Amino acid sequence: MPRLTIAIDGPAGSGKSSVARRIAAMLEYLYLDSGAMYRALALKALRKAVPLDDESRLVALAKETHIELKPPTLEQEAAGAKNRVFLDGEDVTSEIRTAEVAQAASRLATIAKVREVLVAEQQRAGAGGGVVMEGRDIGTVVLPKAELKIFLDASPEVRAERRWKEHQEKGEKMTLAEVFDEVIERDRRDRERKVSPLVRATDAVLVDNTAMAIEETARLIVMLAREHEKKLAEVAGGQP
Ligand code: CDP
Ligand code: CDP
Repeated sequence: MPRLTIAIDGPAGSGKSSVARRIAAMLEYLYLDSGAMYRALALKALRKAVPLDDESRLVALAKETHIELKPPTLEQEAAGAKNRVFLDGEDVTSEIRTAEVAQAASRLATIAKVREVLVAEQQRAGAGGGVVMEGRDIGTVVLPKAELKIFLDASPEVRAERRWKEHQEKGEKMTLAEVFDEVIERDRRDRERKVSPLVRATDAVLVDNTAMAIEETARLIVMLAREHEKKLAEVAGGQP
């Protein structure tokens, strides 16, 4: 079977990472979380106290930074571990998941030249096909030729509650109202920015998983992927 390129975009907490990871496992594709790259760079900027509106320093930082996304080992996966994120060789997997880092990520993600650096890396990673990549601009900018594009959405209340539960589990003391405000503010910044805003690609399938579980959502998208794989195989087979 041909191996597709699958792009999943959507707002914060819509289920992109969980669903994309599950789809990649079901199809035996590579999974790439582009948001983790913005978060890792944001963490570095915060640590170095680089102002989040200092474009030239942030661009220089992006160019000199090495971000690696690694799947967990089988042992780590069995223990519930997800993809690991390395910033200049240091494992920052859990450190990048705070609300502060998320906000900083969405601020530096408004800078066109910072995006250029990260987009080039994402395009290199996605070049061979057999990949599920998720973010905000994957179907519109990073992989515009993806054979299957999904715009994953859920109601703002449900998205905030999902994120709040994650914070609770980690022992962070944010209230549901605070998480709701963080998610809404970030969505607004992501949708309204001039460069590569969060928008549904015209050829993306809208999947609202407000009332759907991760497994159910992943199965639906895998069904669509199998149809596309079959169509591509037929086209390839029909050629002389
Ligand atoms: O990547 P994104 O911010 O879009 O969302 P996520 O990190 O995949 O999901 C946020 C939280 O919602 C996670 O804890 C998921 O387990 C949960 N979730 C859910 O309960 N039901 C879904 N259909 C999707 C995600
Ligand atoms: O998991 P969640 O959906 O909350 O966020 P994320 O996917 O980890 O992304 C963090 C931030 O990075 C987003 O709010 C965006 O501002 C930015 N981002 C982006 O601009 N483009 C992408 N392809 C991915 C993330």
